[in-house]
Amino acid sequence: MKIIIISNRLPVKIVEENNELKLIKSEGGLATGLGSLETKREKHWLGWSGMHITDEGQKADINKQMEELKFHPVYLTPNQIKNYYEGYSNSTIWPLCHYFYSYIGSNNNYWESYKEVNALFCEAALKIIEPGDIVWVQDYQLMLLPAMIREKVKDVSIGYFHHIPFPSYEMFRVLPERAEILRGLLGADLVAFHTYDYMRHFISTVYRVLGYECILDEVQLEDRIVEVDAFPMGINYDLFHDAILRPEVQEKAMELKEGFGDNKIILSVDRLDYSKGILMRLKGFIKFLKHNPEYHGKVSLVMIVVPSRDTVGTYAKLRTRINEFIGGINGKYSTLSWTPVYYFYRAFSFEELTAMYYLADIALVTPLRDGMNLVAKEYIAAKRDKPGVLILSEMAGAVIELSDSIVVNPNNSKEIEDAIVKALEMPEKEQLENLKKLQEIVSTQTVKQWATDFITELKSIKELNNQRF
Ligand code: UDP
Ligand code: G6P
Repeated sequence: MKIIIISNRLPVKIVEENNELKLIKSEGGLATGLGSLETKREKHWLGWSGMHITDEGQKADINKQMEELKFHPVYLTPNQIKNYYEGYSNSTIWPLCHYFYSYIGSNNNYWESYKEVNALFCEAALKIIEPGDIVWVQDYQLMLLPAMIREKVKDVSIGYFHHIPFPSYEMFRVLPERAEILRGLLGADLVAFHTYDYMRHFISTVYRVLGYECILDEVQLEDRIVEVDAFPMGINYDLFHDAILRPEVQEKAMELKEGFGDNKIILSVDRLDYSKGILMRLKGFIKFLKHNPEYHGKVSLVMIVVPSRDTVGTYAKLRTRINEFIGGINGKYSTLSWTPVYYFYRAFSFEELTAMYYLADIALVTPLRDGMNLVAKEYIAAKRDKPGVLILSEMAGAVIELSDSIVVNPNNSKEIEDAIVKALEMPEKEQLENLKKLQEIVSTQTVKQWATDFITELKSIKELNNQRF
């Protein structure tokens, strides 16, 4: 019996370098979190290859590399990338689920393509599914897939995990295709979210849109029950906690320390995304600089922004705004010996990222909305026993577990400013006490625990349904 993970993106993506195609690690919480999951079960992973390839020879070569890793690539056409990925997934569903109402774009081709690609994934999945397998569908790009698979195969357990917020009914009802999407999700035996709030929103939306009876966390269908539950996703704790023990990470940390000198470092790490609150964060930092001249020359913000979805208009515009903001800050406050904001618009390697986590005195994590936010958890783990303070948005799913951080409303730049001052002035003893409490939580609710809990519950629902119906 194997487990088949199906997500839009595989944990590796194909990139072209010096006229050669190669596989590199994907970014984003889903890929990094689930990618580092180790299980006893045979694990297969089906997902988009991340690139349109026309050359059959190149395709065969990539397929061979993927096969060795038990990855099953799905290839999308440029039209599908435009309408399913950039369109329905990232211009309609993403802004809707993150409450960015005015960013929602629609177009008839989007929905048609979304259905088409979900069917394509279904076709690819059917080639590898065997009776008794566990199929675990991930995230908002594939919400129709659970029902599509159920229609074709009976003897499988189907789980679905939603990695982003599920909005309130008032928001979700806006979607013309709301009923089809919900029916698609209810094809699963277990539908799960990061937090209890998202789960409640889903249940009330199912009731109000479809009129299905919901008792506590169960949706009653005619022939079976669908369980709805909350499982906060974690990280591979040991991987991040032990990173600084690796010589190459130590070397990077020393190199970075030399560059930053005695400056206190505030770190922020995100994909380029309007949901991450990057501009509001910069506004908070501007206020901090304006009102606290005694910190000039002593504190720098290191901002790592990983390129993401740059073919979607709202993302491209955000990039320009960030450039302008940072240019403005550095133009105004820099001195010959001090740079207020170090800005990196690229992905960091694991070694660089964990060295930065270890060094940073403060992590400033202020998304306007975020399903979970794994960066916050990775920072806590990677600090080991070096003092550090996490400033965390109350709009991130992670705040439920990490309430011992400094919690801020990310829309309030004054609160961000005050939190930075509070973090800078916090005694080391208090920093270490808080860190310890946070580490206890992050080290317990790991990605492995998350997956084990999910699969255990999925199996028990299947058994329950077999007994009841
Ligand atoms: N990340 C990465 N390379 C980078 C910066 C970040 O691989 O240069 C990873 C980071 O380690 C984290 C993920 O990207 O696991 C971001 O996940 P998060 O849940 O914070 O946000 P998401 O991108 O899923 O919205
Ligand atoms: C978030 C989503 C994932 C997605 C990731 C990166 O974590 O929940 O489903 O894979 O962002 O975005 P991308 O569009 O590059 O896959």
